[in-house]
Amino acid sequence: MKGGPKSLVTGAAGFIGSHLCQRLLQENHDVVGLDCFTDYYPRSVKESNLKNIQADSRFRFLEVDMVRGDLKALVRDRDYIFHHAAQAGVRKSWGKDFLGYVRNNIDATQRLLEAVKESRGPIKRLVYASSSSVYGSDGPLPMREDAYLQPFSPYGVTKLAGEHLCHLYWENYGIPVVSLRYFTIYGPRQRPDMAFYRFIRSALQGDPIVVYGDGEQTRDFTFISDALNANLLSLQEDVAGKVFNIGGGSRISIREVVKLLEGIIGRSISVEYQVGFKGEMKHTYADCLRARTLLGYIPQTSISEGLTQEVAWLKGEQ
Ligand SMILES: NC(=O)c1ccc[n+]([C@@H]2O[C@H](COP(=O)([O-])OP(=O)(O)OC[C@H]3O[C@@H](n4cnc5c(N)ncnc54)[C@H](O)[C@@H]3O)[C@@H](O)[C@H]2O)c1
Repeated sequence: MKGGPKSLVTGAAGFIGSHLCQRLLQENHDVVGLDCFTDYYPRSVKESNLKNIQADSRFRFLEVDMVRGDLKALVRDRDYIFHHAAQAGVRKSWGKDFLGYVRNNIDATQRLLEAVKESRGPIKRLVYASSSSVYGSDGPLPMREDAYLQPFSPYGVTKLAGEHLCHLYWENYGIPVVSLRYFTIYGPRQRPDMAFYRFIRSALQGDPIVVYGDGEQTRDFTFISDALNANLLSLQEDVAGKVFNIGGGSRISIREVVKLLEGIIGRSISVEYQVGFKGEMKHTYADCLRARTLLGYIPQTSISEGLTQEVAWLKGEQ
């Protein structure tokens, strides 16, 4: 049935973007999803991310590269834009690969903002998928939105540049942006390069899991459905121009994650510790007071519940 709000999701074939399209369709949005299938992980994985929604007549998928395509035509009639396209991942962001991060995280964001500015459409909100990687590695915990930002990785620098671009188009042109700083999102369809995916996959096959670093590093893990709730909550009026931490309220160490997984999978897991990567933060921990107060955001899914869901999904994928 037509007639709901019109939304555009960039990065629609990715982990978070594909879930978001599905959730928006459930909320009766008319959704255009765009993605160019970058080769960071296999196209077949991204195509299967889309398979649940492609039959929905309110969903239209477009294979478009944001750095080349005519974005103006795509944003013209949209009420909401959820900008999730990016080159993700801290580890690959050094050396010559940095150019891909500049292209897909900074250039693409600037082109989208220009298109919105030029199109003068009815846009009510542009949600930018930012990251906990905008914070420094040695700052105070929990991390607050008003902390001094000194990213620890080239990836974080490009995500922060995107966030700054969004903010300056809000201040100069009134584009109603909101930035959501996600803290390690996990759950079904998680990217294959991410730790939980790798751990669960190896553990299910009875292989040792590889942990980079000493395993004492902590993360504030956020279940996918909580991140989706945050996107919907960020559409409310009076929050334009604001930045929000979106954490899961489950800050635990990697060693604790392994113990939890042993309980869920029902067998002991052997761990190989390898040298950590440059650019990986020691700890992340979100202060979500602002999101709770202004958006009404309260994470709903505990780490053990969320991990159980990701394990069930990966069992089905085997
Ligand atoms: N997953 C997390 O834990 C996490 C944490 C913090 C921030 N984020 C941010 O959330 C967003 C989504 O992350 P994800 O984990 O779903 O990543 P993902 O790699 O699964 O999805 C990103 C998608 O963007 C597409 N893309 C990249 N450049 C493009 C371009 N120029 N034109 C069109 N499409 C392009 C890719 O093909 C990919 O499908 C990203 O902006 C990421 O930086 C993710």
